Formats: sequence, C-alpha cells, structure tokens
Amino acid sequence: MTRKLYSGKTLAILTGGGDTPALNSSIESIRNRASLLGYRVYGIRKGWKGLLGDGDIVDLSHQPYDGWYGGTALLSSRTNPFPSKKNPESRVPQVLRNLERYGIDVLVTIGGDDTNGAAKRLYETEGIPVIGFPKTIDNDLKTRTMHYVDDHILEAVLCPGFPSAAKAIAEFTANIKTTAESHQRIMVMEVMGRDAGWLTGTTTFGGATMALVPEVHMTRERKDLFFELVKENYMRHPKKALIIAVSEGVRWYDEAKDKVDVVHASSETDEFGHPRFGGISGIIASEITQKLGLEARAQITGYYPRAGQCRNYDRRLTQTLADKVVELLLNKDYGKMPVMKKIVPFQELEEFNTSAIDMGDIGNQPLPIEYYDLDEFTFSDLYSDFLRNILREVHYHDFDTDFPVVLPKEG
Ligand code: F6P
Repeated sequence: MTRKLYSGKTLAILTGGGDTPALNSSIESIRNRASLLGYRVYGIRKGWKGLLGDGDIVDLSHQPYDGWYGGTALLSSRTNPFPSKKNPESRVPQVLRNLERYGIDVLVTIGGDDTNGAAKRLYETEGIPVIGFPKTIDNDLKTRTMHYVDDHILEAVLCPGFPSAAKAIAEFTANIKTTAESHQRIMVMEVMGRDAGWLTGTTTFGGATMALVPEVHMTRERKDLFFELVKENYMRHPKKALIIAVSEGVRWYDEAKDKVDVVHASSETDEFGHPRFGGISGIIASEITQKLGLEARAQITGYYPRAGQCRNYDRRLTQTLADKVVELLLNKDYGKMPVMKKIVPFQELEEFNTSAIDMGDIGNQPLPIEYYDLDEFTFSDLYSDFLRNILREVHYHDFDTDFPVVLPKEG
C-alpha cells in the first residue's frame, strides 16, 4: 500500500455561526481532499463548543456524506472561546487541552468573522495550525474578491452560502410578486443582513423595485424622499403593485424617539456581542399605510435563505476553495483563508482563480457605494452585473392584466 503524505496526521473541521446551505458541501469537499492527502478527518460538533469540556468529536473518515444537503451535519453554535462580556472566563485552555487530547494536528474553521477571528487569535497567540474557510449568507466577510466591470474595479465579496441564499431570495421575491399584484399591494420584504445589504440586493433580481440597506441610514430627510418615491413608483406601476426590500439591520428614523436606530427582535446578545434584529418591515409597512393611504404588508423572509439545499454555484465554489486548501496544507501555510480572486461565472470557478488571504485581514465588508443608487433607493447596474455572474437569470412568468373593459349593453 502506498503511504500518503500526511498518513498518521489528523485534520479536524468545525462550523461556527449561522448555518448556510453550503456548509455540508464545504465540509465534504475539505474532508475528501484532506483524506486524499492521507489525513484522518475529524468533525468537531457545535463549533468551538465541541472543543470545550470533554470534547465532542466525530470521525468523518470513510463515512458517507451528503454535501448537497443544506445546513451542517457537524452542528453549529455561536460559542466564543475567548473572554467576552457574556462569558468573561477564557476557555482557550480547554480548547488547547482537547486539541492535544484528540491529537488534532490541523484545524479548519468554517465560519464568518467571529469563528475565523477566534481561529486567527489561536494561531497568533498559541501557534495552532489553522486554516479558515469563509461562509455567510450575509456576504459581508472581507474576501478581497475583485469585480471587473467595464472600466470599474470594485472590491466585492464572495462567500460560500451567499449564492444559494441569493437564489432563494430572488425566487422568493419573484413568487411574492404574484400576491402583491393580485391585491395591488405594496409588499415590504425583510431580508437578513445585520450590517450589509448584499443579500437584500438579490430581491431586485426577482422584481423588487426599491431596496433599503444598513449602509445607507434612513434619516428623517431620506425618509421623506423615500415615501415620495414609494407613491410615485406605485402609481406608475402598470399593475399597481410594488415590492420594497429592506435589510433587517436598516437604521430607520423613529419620530417618537427622534433618533435613527435599528429595530431589535430581542434584547439578548450572543457571545460575540451581537443583538438580534427583526421587525423593521412591519414598521415601514404601517408607516406607508399611515402616510400614503396605500395598502402595505410586511413579509419577513427570516431563515428561508439560510435553509434548504446547496445550489450549483455554491457547490462548485466550495469545491474550488477546497482545492486551494490542499495547496495551503501542502505548503503548511497556516493562518490563511482561501478566496476567489475575482467575481466569475460558474464555469470559471477554478483553482487558478483563487488566492489565499491572511486571516488577520478578514473583517466586515459593506457594499461598495457604487452598487447602490441613492436617488432611486435601489441597487445599481454594477450590482446587477455582480449578481448576474452568480445567478445567471431567475425565470419567472409575468402576465398582463390589461384586458379590454366591457360596458353594459345600451337600453
Ligand atoms: O450571521 C448570519 C445571520 O443569518 C444574520 O443575517 C442574522 O442576523 C443572524 O444570522 C441570525 O442569527 P441567529 O439565527 O443565531 O439568531
């Protein structure tokens, strides 16, 4: 039997933070490639939590695995091993003890800023060999992925999880459109995204006319302009219907408090200090009705974009980034995260278009302002180009309601 390069070594994978439809695909892709290099592959359950106490570790080597199935078979949590306001005691010694006890040589952390930020600290302060792997439906993790369009070069983001979520939200919007049209209503669709509007923008692919994002604060002045445009867009619409998308983290001027703020769903925070947002769509819908006298309804899309199976683009994206992990492992190039160098269509998701960034450089990346049209309260053509690479087209039927009117018979 041929001895593989890393025979006798163990690589462990964990998933932390909110789930996405691309997590199992990422786990499977990393597991398969690490196995080919000879690693025994472990799964750490429930994110960092699986490295606390006695540890919660499973063996993924030579096991069937379904990478198309959404969510994470390794389970997830928002556990922070470092001291936090919620949990002032450092649990790093427990993590180090378990890495040692289970004989883990390399750790791959699939997560966003929080999970990979903790991994980076472990690498820097304790010298633990870690590789980060990006994920988030919010698409707000800095990946340094450039978007070349016409004569613009924009710093975009491409995180596994976002393409599947984007497709789900675009389709959801296209479907909700028929209900909006049937009742000649305004639908205010709320979409996840605490600090960035990347996902909210995908509604424009499904037929949303206006979209509000956390990056652009809805001050008293902007609200006045917004309501004027809502009325104009509604009246202009041939079917008298309108879809307005709104990020859960939109900062909205509250007249009673005379303050621009987010709407909280609860006063709870997680171990990374994040509060839960939710409910802005209801406030906007009722203000539209009060101020404009138009019928409006709120629709919270909630966990829908996070749920369900991995879509094609994400499947190939996770496989391509896992190819880059092989190179990092071979070079023992730890403390890095694989990313796409540029925004590309499906068929160009290839290893030669990847690169690796220092985990010290990750952080939150808001929308480039060029992606948003401040006057029209919607996304720009540059954003449509970005999205077209990822989604190609969303197909939906449109029907005409402009039938000839029949008058009663004379006398
Ligand atoms: O971090 C991704 C995300 O989907 C955010 O858009 C959302 O605010 C958050 O997770 C909700 O997290 P949880 O399910 O833990 O409340």
